[in-house]
Amino acid sequence: MEQLVSLAKRRGFIYPGSDIYGGLAGTYDYGPLGVVLKNNIKKSWIEKFVGTREDMYLMDAAILMNPQVWQATGHADHFSDPMVECIKCKKRYRTDQLDGTTCPSCGGAFGPERQFNMMLETKMGAVEDSASVTYLRPETAQGMFVNFKNVVDTMAPKMPFGMAQIGKAFRNEITPRDFIFRVREFEQMEIEYFVHPDEWERYFNYWKDEMMEWIESIGIDMNRLHDVEIGPDDRAHYSARTVDFEFDYPFGQKELYGLAYRGDYDLTKHATASKQKLQYTDQEKNETFVPHVIEPSFGLDRTVLAILLSAYTVDTVNDEERTYLNLPAHIAPFQMAVSPLLKNKPELTDVARRVFRTLKDTFHNVAWDDNGNIGKRYRRQDEIGTPYCVVIDFETLDDGMVSVRDRNTTEQTRIAIDDLVQHFINVLTQ
Ligand code: GAP
Repeated sequence: MEQLVSLAKRRGFIYPGSDIYGGLAGTYDYGPLGVVLKNNIKKSWIEKFVGTREDMYLMDAAILMNPQVWQATGHADHFSDPMVECIKCKKRYRTDQLDGTTCPSCGGAFGPERQFNMMLETKMGAVEDSASVTYLRPETAQGMFVNFKNVVDTMAPKMPFGMAQIGKAFRNEITPRDFIFRVREFEQMEIEYFVHPDEWERYFNYWKDEMMEWIESIGIDMNRLHDVEIGPDDRAHYSARTVDFEFDYPFGQKELYGLAYRGDYDLTKHATASKQKLQYTDQEKNETFVPHVIEPSFGLDRTVLAILLSAYTVDTVNDEERTYLNLPAHIAPFQMAVSPLLKNKPELTDVARRVFRTLKDTFHNVAWDDNGNIGKRYRRQDEIGTPYCVVIDFETLDDGMVSVRDRNTTEQTRIAIDDLVQHFINVLTQ
């Protein structure tokens, strides 16, 4: 884990939040490579769950919502973790994450256990009174439930259908920890899939398979993945059935994603509180009902962590240890890097720049790398997971061919410059 955290910072994936001020607990900033990695994950998620389907509607709802939303859903009363405070040093801990009965920091005794609400409060508008208090959303889900009627009225969807959203969520975690695993500001990718109440079980199993398929496609090690049925005592207050996808992190087997059967909990609560009709009429069957909801919920930051942990590989090349990220090409920040063999030879650099421009115009996520010697460049590109390195050398000037090095095998093949774009189209869409 320490090696990964260090690589993530050193190579521009993830920095501690507000780094020059000593950080801010539970926040991280994504650097240039981390942003591209995250965008590639989002793109793949949207492609699989929205772009290739006919029954899915994308949303981008506001982070700030009317506080009545959180009253209606029960978040204001129930979205809490059990907490104790050390009487001596005042440090706070989540009770369910404590091993002993005294403060791990100073050995002091704990005060009584109480419930700590995890919603992050903020104030809106110029007048500071209790009416101005609202919350940064703790889940993206509610932005979809409150828009259920809008989507039904404007898009005329056929049942079953889903709403999908990617966006920030905030939780005032008592003990943020384990790098980007448990943070206070994170991104979720969520689907609310509306079904006829009689069909929830079938669609619950269907979504379990769909989630698995996507998890595998983005390079998460399936040997480290477990689907775990969550018992009634451990389920969220809104869920009648939950399966968690757990991952073997270096700090233990913990939640990666959740799949919940929310029944008609949210639509019914919002219908009562807002006095609006949140229901669906099947014109063909002449039937009106409150749809039930299957919710596949993905944390984006945990996805980044699981992908990086799955990809982190150490092997030996020419008797030397090397580290590389075995990322799928569509997830890696750069799909290829282009280099002249030597930096200060204009005849090589000119050709290399032309090759770079052609590849960049076509594939976008392409790196130009002429720093240090070629060995150092390979090591750097391996460490950030670039699947292919294209090198323009002196032979290129004679035969118009470049060398293409494979990250995992380190094998090099010669490809004609004129065939390069087609070659990469072929290997990247394999
Ligand atoms: N709408 C359902 C919901 O929010 P959840 O299990 O509380 O369910 C869904 O959260 C996902 O969000 C989790 O499976 C996890 O991937 C991610 N997540 C939750 N809390 C997080 C935190 N503090 N830091 C990073 N990711 C978090």
